[in-house]
Amino acid sequence: MTITSDDSTKELPLKSIPGGYGFSLLGPIKDRLEYFYFQGQDEFFTKRMCKFQSTIFRANMPPGPFISPNSKVIVLLDAVSFPVLFDTSKVEKRNLLDGTYMPSTSLTGGYRVCAYLDPSEPNHGKLKSFFLSVLASKKNNFIPLFRNCLSELFTNVEDQIFDKKEAKFNSLSDDMSFQFVFELLSDQKPSDLKLTSDGPALFDKWLLFQLSPLMTLGLPKFLSLLEDLLLHTFMLPPFLAKSSYKRLYEAFNSSAASVLDEAERCGIQRDEACHNLIFLAGFNAYGGMKVLFPSLIKWVGQAGEVLHRQLADEIRTVVKDEGGVTLASLEKMSLTKSVVYEALRIEPPVPFQYGKAKEDLVVRNHDAKFEIKKGEMIFGYQPFATKDPMVFENPEEFVGHRFVGDGEKLLKYVYWSNGFETENPTANNKQCPAKDLVVLVSRLMLVELFLRYDTYRVEFGKVGLGSSVTIKSLTKATTVQ
Ligand code: HEM
Repeated sequence: MTITSDDSTKELPLKSIPGGYGFSLLGPIKDRLEYFYFQGQDEFFTKRMCKFQSTIFRANMPPGPFISPNSKVIVLLDAVSFPVLFDTSKVEKRNLLDGTYMPSTSLTGGYRVCAYLDPSEPNHGKLKSFFLSVLASKKNNFIPLFRNCLSELFTNVEDQIFDKKEAKFNSLSDDMSFQFVFELLSDQKPSDLKLTSDGPALFDKWLLFQLSPLMTLGLPKFLSLLEDLLLHTFMLPPFLAKSSYKRLYEAFNSSAASVLDEAERCGIQRDEACHNLIFLAGFNAYGGMKVLFPSLIKWVGQAGEVLHRQLADEIRTVVKDEGGVTLASLEKMSLTKSVVYEALRIEPPVPFQYGKAKEDLVVRNHDAKFEIKKGEMIFGYQPFATKDPMVFENPEEFVGHRFVGDGEKLLKYVYWSNGFETENPTANNKQCPAKDLVVLVSRLMLVELFLRYDTYRVEFGKVGLGSSVTIKSLTKATTVQ
């Protein structure tokens, strides 16, 4: 393992932050076109990191004009400087969930929902505590409910392979995630039967109106400028998403009555709680799973048959010895746990984090210190921080066993939840309150997969903000469970 140099006692030179922003309007537009079309996301950062010989530099982050009032950021690309973004005593997180712009609150009933609040705002603590207690109260449902949803998912995958020789995993996974999240929060199946089939599309449309400035549709090159004009130059008009959102509101308002009653007991107005619940279900949970599950299936699929055999052996042995799939049995699956962490490390589902300096700060990377002024926007590109070659050996490689045994020490460098994997979400920080649930459902996905199948093959590409995955074949389990 490479030795990290994050020893804060080490004396480092103070350097000024390299890079710049170019002319107003032109600089941000040039950076945006390079980011989306001429260089691409990763190359945009790699090129500048090499040019400035620094993991910390200045650049504009998309979307820029005319959506972001100010697109100037200080980019952080290493494992040492990145965590300054978790320290809410040093950075303000107000209205920064999507970066340098904030979607209209008319998409969330006129409310600034929890994820847009800074912990210094009293409403953040109130809402986050409520979410943490809702999740705690549903804890016993997680495993049985998610396994039911997975069972339906794999039946659908098999049916599609039977009919069409391949299964489009993303849409089947989205249907499953919607079902899981809705049932978890409402304690019932979507009451309006049409919502079961329409639900994912309703959320997708509503998400598009919030996230279009960060997306590309992967159109042919000659359409790039048109796409840039449509998605990245002006916000899509929110009123076009109104009818979809109304249906979601009505469904959650009637089906999640017990959660909303509890919100009122916690001093949160029912209407505000319902809009927050939709955001939690649709943006945080469904939106997160929309990226997470295809990514997990892609990386494990690509890793090949040897890893598949090892996972199947571990999972089947533990389930047999422990008499079932329980929290305790999952805890004993060290390879399965490691594989999930490795997928979250190599491709964190939420790759961007932002924070505005609350005061003048000094931030360090492996080889220097840099001054950041109060009010400057700090931006961390997480896939580089969690592939920092000073921390992770062969960082670009998917190493299933990376976090087994002694490798567990590296978990503190896994940042997917907007916090250290070794720490926990609280009402005072901005770490994902569903951190443990997300890890749990990812493990369950692998458990269910390798209880049923020995191996599988995938093809993949890019879509929206994540990977598109097609399952080409599934080989049924040959050993008895
Ligand atoms: C499935 C994959 C998920 C991923 C990858 C994910 C990731 C994240 C990340 C990175 C943040 C911090 C955003 C920021 O401020 O920069 C966050 C916040 C949040 N997440 Fe998750 N999340 C997931 C699922 C969920 C689920 C299932 C729930 C709830 C059921 C949830 C609820 C929230 C909430 C409420 C916040 C805002 C926390 C705050 O404001 O303090 N997330 N999530």
